[in-house]
Amino acid sequence: MLKKKSKQPKLDKKERAPKKKKNQKGVQSEESIESTEVNAYQSDLKPTIWDLISPDGITIDKEDRGRIKQTLGKVVHFLPFYIPRSGYPRKLQTNWINTLLSAGEVDVMIDIHKLPKGQAIRSLQKQLTVFQSNLSWQMRRGNTDQINDLRTKIGDTEVLVEEIQFSENDMFLVSVLGNMYAKEERELEALANYLQDEMGHKFFSLTSAWSRVKKGFLSSQPVGENQLKDTFRNIDRRALSTLSPFISGAGRYYGGVPIGINRITGHKEFINTFGNEEFRPTNYNMAFFGISGSGKSVAMKLMIGRQLAGANTHFLIIDPEGEFKRLTNRLQGINIDLHEESGIVINPCAINYSDIPLDDVDDDELSLLEEDDQKEVISKNGKKYLRFVPIKEKINEILDFFNVLVSSGGVDKALNVFERNFLEEAITYVFTEVLGITSHPSSLFQDGMAEVDGELVQSRVRKPEPELLQIYEYLYEKYSNDQDCKRLLAALKPFLRTGSKPIFDGQTRLGHGVTQSLESARLVNFNISGMEEGLLKPVAYHVLINYAWEHFAKNIEKAEIKKYIVADEIWQSIDNDATVSFYEKVARRARKRNCGLMYASQDFVRLLENKKARGIVTSTFTIFFMQQNPIDLKKIRDHFDLAEGEINTIFSNTAKGECIVRFGDNRIWMRTDPSEGEMMYIESNEALLKERLDRKRMQERQTI
Ligand SMILES: Nc1ncnc2c1ncn2[C@@H]1O[C@H](COP(=O)(O)OP(=O)(O)OP(=O)(O)O)[C@@H](O)[C@H]1O
Ligand SMILES: [Mg+2]
Repeated sequence: MLKKKSKQPKLDKKERAPKKKKNQKGVQSEESIESTEVNAYQSDLKPTIWDLISPDGITIDKEDRGRIKQTLGKVVHFLPFYIPRSGYPRKLQTNWINTLLSAGEVDVMIDIHKLPKGQAIRSLQKQLTVFQSNLSWQMRRGNTDQINDLRTKIGDTEVLVEEIQFSENDMFLVSVLGNMYAKEERELEALANYLQDEMGHKFFSLTSAWSRVKKGFLSSQPVGENQLKDTFRNIDRRALSTLSPFISGAGRYYGGVPIGINRITGHKEFINTFGNEEFRPTNYNMAFFGISGSGKSVAMKLMIGRQLAGANTHFLIIDPEGEFKRLTNRLQGINIDLHEESGIVINPCAINYSDIPLDDVDDDELSLLEEDDQKEVISKNGKKYLRFVPIKEKINEILDFFNVLVSSGGVDKALNVFERNFLEEAITYVFTEVLGITSHPSSLFQDGMAEVDGELVQSRVRKPEPELLQIYEYLYEKYSNDQDCKRLLAALKPFLRTGSKPIFDGQTRLGHGVTQSLESARLVNFNISGMEEGLLKPVAYHVLINYAWEHFAKNIEKAEIKKYIVADEIWQSIDNDATVSFYEKVARRARKRNCGLMYASQDFVRLLENKKARGIVTSTFTIFFMQQNPIDLKKIRDHFDLAEGEINTIFSNTAKGECIVRFGDNRIWMRTDPSEGEMMYIESNEALLKERLDRKRMQERQTI
């Protein structure tokens, strides 16, 4: 039996319980009990369940309602109701029970009894006989409507009998009843009308327990005795799942890839985070929240593997722990191991043009464009784009990069106003004076020699990218004697190609065989696990999310392709304002680029407490809630609209990979279902992986 209790204080009678003791056998009057004797009688004085739940008094003065006397002076009106046998639609949709559960001062009792197989089949056969005799009568009368209706019913029932025979289904007797409460009679009337209306829209009808008010009232109390026997109707397993205390039993199907097994229906759940023509989510971002070891990384890797293969989605991963390396190799993606000696360069000063779809003119990138800025309109695959070089935005982004650079490791403070001015002057000089870059896209190109089919030909080629060294040299020549520039120059030095951390200085170079635009790659993993924790890693994180946005998300060659930027352990970058702000921008803008941000975090409360990071969470349509830390209970309640049953699931004995998936207003209780084969490249625990591999080898040996 399931019980949803209203927020009424009426059952909270603990304090008043001793009042009832005079009713109990063998209890002496209070005065005659000495304090030392209390222990001996204590067992007799224990309140019973009735003491706890029964109100002071109940009056039934109308045919359909009554009054409960609560504490001194307080009266509550109640009206028992139920769904009559004929009050259900032919097919039960998910979500319907929530109308009752969320209606406020309403208690709902759902009484479920499973019928033994034999009895279920016998009762269905009896029903079939009734339908059939009815059908032959209607046929004689030539009543077409009835004939069609009866044929459908007979068909449905026959299928059900067959399913039960083969144990693919079960039959249940179910009764849904409840009580509504209000302080005033008028309020009760309004609530009853409201519920009747709302349920009516869903093709349910509600009936009051007319002239059986007491029985109706008692039936929905948590004592497990349903006294309204005529309220039962039979339903099958599928229909039963719609009664779960979750907002929905099964997820709606919009295509996509399988992701796990529904814990209520036992069916495979599919998820399509990009939606389809029928339904398009407001963004494609996807989050995985849960404590360490709850299965976030496994779920992410499953999504990547299955979407790559089954939904032609491309991925760029920022991998702080080197956890996605095996997956990338296995899926034939490109692994880029970034560390001080890798010889790889990711140039944070590299600039590209932006292409903004013209049917999406409200893009906030356009706000950075001024009237006299040059731009051009281009066509690609029948779509028009406004193309320009977002030079002002880029200068701001490079300033942010320097900010991360001087403040990484948490030792030094952020850029001061002098340093910002020096830098802005230097960057502008390099962009405009040295390279002649303006807001017009053609300013990124120059005449030169290009290799076409192995031959060098005269052509328009890309200008070299602006470099860190050029900015440094400008500052050094002009301001090396200026005290206010000293810290900046010292902070930059190790990051030059001559320094100990040369990863960000020079033309972007991703290593052998990797083209910079990543146009053809479907899966690229930037493994930054080998980078210096606290100092270099945060800078790399920042540069990479910038890079991912510029060259992956905004890449017009990939405009039609669904894409994800993946960031595991996103909380690691939360302390860096510039990085978090950039993530937030990506989360907001990605949808227009056919792109989403996929991220995981152990500590989602830290995300909520940071203003910018909260923006990322609120821009996330799909959230996987895996097992949660009990101290976060209140935050989850406050921030996410989850039902109590759903909250219990993620705060109790949650299995690894078990989760509530929030897909807009749809909720799915499921568990990810990695296969043995997938686990070989998904498992993050090395010891467990070795065990699996050993087991597999053993099995192979046995089958030979
Ligand atoms: N659906 C599942 N079925 C069985 N085992 C699972 C499932 N999902 C995850 N696991 C196991 O749980 C363990 C932890 O998973 P995972 O590494 O994904 O956790 P995590 O949430 O990413 O943790 P952390 O925050 O520490 O990175 C792994 O050993 C994995 O094999
Ligand atoms: Mg993990």
